[in-house]
Amino acid sequence: MAFTGSLTQSDVWKALQAHHQSIEHEHMRDMFAANPSRFEQFHIDAAGLSLDYSKNRINDDTMKLLFKLARQQNLTTHIAAMFSGEKVNGSEGRPALHTALRNFGDRDIMVDGENIMPEVRDTVRRMEEFCWKIRRNQWRGYSNKTFTDVVSIGIGGSFLGPKLASSALKPYWDSRLSIHYLANIDGSHITEILKRLDPATTLFIIQSKSFTTQETLKNANACRQWFLDNGGEEHDLAKHFTAVSSNIEKATAFGIAEENIFPMWDWVGGRYSLWSAIGLPLALAIGIDNFRELLRGAYAMDEHFRTAPLEHNMPVIMALLGIWYVNFFGVNSHAILPYDHYLRSLPAHLQQVDMESNGKSVTTDGNKVDYQTGPVIWGGVGTNGQHAFHQLLHQGTHFSPCDFIMPMCSHNPIDNFHAMLVSNCLSQSQALLQGKSEDEAVAELVAAGMNQAEAIVLAPQKVIPGNRPSNTLYFPKSSPQIIGALIALYEHKVAAQGMIWGINSFDQWGVELGKQLGNKVLTALESSAIPEGFDGSTNGLIRAFQQMQNY
Ligand code: F6P
Repeated sequence: MAFTGSLTQSDVWKALQAHHQSIEHEHMRDMFAANPSRFEQFHIDAAGLSLDYSKNRINDDTMKLLFKLARQQNLTTHIAAMFSGEKVNGSEGRPALHTALRNFGDRDIMVDGENIMPEVRDTVRRMEEFCWKIRRNQWRGYSNKTFTDVVSIGIGGSFLGPKLASSALKPYWDSRLSIHYLANIDGSHITEILKRLDPATTLFIIQSKSFTTQETLKNANACRQWFLDNGGEEHDLAKHFTAVSSNIEKATAFGIAEENIFPMWDWVGGRYSLWSAIGLPLALAIGIDNFRELLRGAYAMDEHFRTAPLEHNMPVIMALLGIWYVNFFGVNSHAILPYDHYLRSLPAHLQQVDMESNGKSVTTDGNKVDYQTGPVIWGGVGTNGQHAFHQLLHQGTHFSPCDFIMPMCSHNPIDNFHAMLVSNCLSQSQALLQGKSEDEAVAELVAAGMNQAEAIVLAPQKVIPGNRPSNTLYFPKSSPQIIGALIALYEHKVAAQGMIWGINSFDQWGVELGKQLGNKVLTALESSAIPEGFDGSTNGLIRAFQQMQNY
């Protein structure tokens, strides 16, 4: 029988609150001392990834209660609804079917009475043909030169996913092609990209589901003009400009030949679109076979998420751990710490996946939530962060759970670099767990030659509380399959959290507001009239912009 009451008034929520009080002051040092098999107990493997979640402030009872919460919120039913194509994005009346894009099974997936799988597969075949023509030099630029550069123009989900996967899979790149990502509306960025390129050997991919996004259209028009001003002719545009969009009309009006437009569908959200033709620049870089392997990795994670029992379900476990900290410890941020140069764009992508999805404060039935939802996602690549923001992780007044992410083997095994990198990763999570007591700090200072009295005065500065939770997510080596599974893992973690919180993780009305307001402000900036109609601060800033135009 489905639970329909208030989440925070439910017995299981109250039991979790009581359990939190009982465990709050327990130190993980003691938990590890008491249970030598904690690593084996709180550990799961799925789709080529391994998760050690033993360094969390949990015990058996915690996990039992969290799984009970998931059951109360009908998580399994919600997961099935998402995969089957139900309109889980209620505010836009759409399904969220990014999983169909990597469905290697033989399940038909129906949207409005139509099986979408043939079109999905046909699009991958078109991508294959396109990649084949470009990479084998069958499709050339206007002067018959082969392409050397691809500029992908798009923003948000039409940028972050492909950018992440491209950098994550750099070892698989075809060295003859350079891929550039142009997202921000910033004259400096476009200038820096185009100044190094030759129009005759440059291919543009305009990536916009809506084909109405201000930044993308501005950048696309500027690239088009640059192409025409530097040797290209109108009739050459078709050879150099392609698009990925669900808005065929607008894309053709821009001048893209219809056969060069790859489809997007409104049942794929922007932040989940890497798996569609939005992945085209990536497919060009790594080849369609590797792109398919990426899809296969995501599919393996999909099947795990869809079929594994909650207790043995990696995305569900990560979702519940997040909920444990957000809702019962009052934590409001979560750090993503990849120990891999190639994964340096992961925090930025996950910021969109998580914060655009779960940055919501109203439930799907329109009620204001009385509990916290998605945390602030932040992070950066290790070990750089250790010499910067890790200070707050270790000694700040509040704690931020961390995900340490690392491949056990490097694509570039020079000397003992990788062992050093891994040792940094492991010792950071260990230090967050262990901390340093006042007695230990005193003993350390005395051992270093300080007298006891001075050591006692200095020691409080050196105390590290420890008991700060982290996950360690590891895998043998980055590969297309592993990266596919990793990205899908986080997509599902976020979706599962949204399902438990009862919010719609698939719309983004707050972001849409920014799109509307941006246009109004632009009109005011470009006029010389005294700005009015905005708040006093915005009026003042518009005026300042107008006055500073002669610098
Ligand atoms: O940033 C908001 C958003 O709607 C994202 O969800 C999307 O990925 C991005 O804008 C770009 O939109 P489009 O692909 O339509 O240009």
